Amino acid sequence: MHRICVIGGGHVGLVAAACFAQMGHSVICVDNDSAKIALLKKGKMPFYEPKLATLVKKTANSKRLVFSDSLDNSIKKSKVIFIAVGTPPKSDGSADLSAIEDVARVIAKNLNSYKLIVEKSTVPVQTGKKIKETIARYKKGDATYDVASNPEFLREGKAVHDSFYPDRIVLGVDSKQAETILRQIYSKLKTKIIVTDVNTAEIIKHASNSFLASKISFINAVSRVCDKAGADVEKVSQAMGLDKRIGGDFLSAGIGWGGFCFPKDVEAFAYISKKLGYDFSFLKEVTKINHEQQLYFTEKIRERLWVIRGKKIAILGLSFKPNTDDMRFAPSINIVKTLEKEGAELTLYDPKAMNEAKNIFKSKKIMFAKDAYAAVKGCDCVCFLTEWKQFLALDFKKIKKTMNNALIADGRNMLDPVKLIAAGFEYIGLGRGK
Ligand code: UDX
Repeated sequence: MHRICVIGGGHVGLVAAACFAQMGHSVICVDNDSAKIALLKKGKMPFYEPKLATLVKKTANSKRLVFSDSLDNSIKKSKVIFIAVGTPPKSDGSADLSAIEDVARVIAKNLNSYKLIVEKSTVPVQTGKKIKETIARYKKGDATYDVASNPEFLREGKAVHDSFYPDRIVLGVDSKQAETILRQIYSKLKTKIIVTDVNTAEIIKHASNSFLASKISFINAVSRVCDKAGADVEKVSQAMGLDKRIGGDFLSAGIGWGGFCFPKDVEAFAYISKKLGYDFSFLKEVTKINHEQQLYFTEKIRERLWVIRGKKIAILGLSFKPNTDDMRFAPSINIVKTLEKEGAELTLYDPKAMNEAKNIFKSKKIMFAKDAYAAVKGCDCVCFLTEWKQFLALDFKKIKKTMNNALIADGRNMLDPVKLIAAGFEYIGLGRGK
């Protein structure tokens, strides 16, 4: 059992804290947002993530997981400190590491005994080195410490599952003691452990996310060719994915990737590469294709409706992917804003992200519906922007009757065009022939 402090109660930190507690460790999850800590202490979740509420409740009841807004005390009481604070993008594409630097200084001030400081947030290569230097600069006394990198690969919406069943655990360490402690922390998980130096571990994370985003942009670029040639990208991706060297995951064409990780990580990886002396221009293209995919989708709608102004458009699905209420950098934002700018009357619905959406879209022209059926009533076009499972179970006969014009724009290629066309709908997909 280790005494662990997880700094940051967000999608990475809170999940890690609850999972470490479930693995038998004694964990303090600390966040400088007192309101969030107060909420967590009451057993309420600051965001939606399947299975997380139950796990937090269970581990908090057993007292293995506690919450605090006092960083100093939490650090003093712990031997292992995981840093899971935000590293948001700056306007130049680089990662804003000010929260990490702040934390490093607070750790230095509270270094009352040996501590292992572990980066969990995604950070550019050589951040570990900077953390080490910062602590050395500000620490008083002679307590020793190690800095390690243990990147998190969990996906939102599947975070708890991914934490207990990871494909691999990466330990970037520069001492045997750090490796031993981290191996002990994860001893209950059965998976491959890759041990590297800190720089390598940091690159593994950036390279993995950038590669996954590239895979999606690749198939999205293929979808554009499919549309021009009258071919079906769904079959192309199915057949490609059966080649074990390619693999079928992250090969679904659509309106592209979003979320708090891919957009910022692809940009930050390009930025740090350039800073180090390599122009990773490939990644610029990956981002460009992603952006263009959203423009292309709205262009397709415009093509069918001729004029967007005054048209009633229903948007089903707003979160950047299903099973989360997260709308950070969601493709839906660009699409909704473009349609709104062109004068569409929009009605939005998402099973979980309504509160987030209301904070983002303040225009009077944007309405929010209580369910999918209410959203599509009287509309000229319905757009599916997130592949929520419950949308597949909708009664499309009922939908068709209430729509003013039976046009479906499927931004995730989630529906069956053959069935919909047979039922009298016009259908727009991406890369499924014209
Ligand atoms: C990602 C990484 O997968 C995870 O390992 C890392 O820790 C954090 O970043 P996440 O941001 O939760 O996880 O989302 P992910 O499931 O990877 O999806 C990212 C985006 O890609 C979503 O917008 C999703 O809709 C899109 N996507 C995914 C596609 O457009 N096509 C696909 O085939 C797969």
